[in-house]
Amino acid sequence: MSMPYSPEELLRVARAAREYAYAPYSGFRVGAALACADGTVYGGCNVENASFGLSICAERVAVFRAVAEGRRSFVALAVVGPGPGPVYPCGACRQVLHEFAPDLTVVVAGDRGEYWERKLEDLLPLVFDPKVIREG
Ligand code: THU
Repeated sequence: MSMPYSPEELLRVARAAREYAYAPYSGFRVGAALACADGTVYGGCNVENASFGLSICAERVAVFRAVAEGRRSFVALAVVGPGPGPVYPCGACRQVLHEFAPDLTVVVAGDRGEYWERKLEDLLPLVFDPKVIREG
């Protein structure tokens, strides 16, 4: 399915979501935007905690917001961090994204307008697939 949003539009939403990042411990503020197949888009930001291990990444916030509102079909995710280089989703977020969208396009960007597009399957080869549980 084609992207209902251009990478630039999705990155705009991710940058807006990044404004709400709560990252007082790391100072590393991340924004994400998840484009759903029906055209809706969910933003997410990282939300840290004084008990550091409870912190959650921007990408998972976007996925969980979308799923909690009934969306399960996703076509693209954009991620923006603080620096000039791209911020790639961490391994945990890749696995969570794979659950719903193995064909996902991932758009990663720096703060200079440059961006790169990847496929989730290239970021997470030999994935633990939910089919293993469903079908053995
Ligand atoms: N973080 C994200 O939100 N997404 C990523 O892709 C990488 C890491 C957050 C988690 C933590 O709040 C901070 O960045 C530093 O690891």
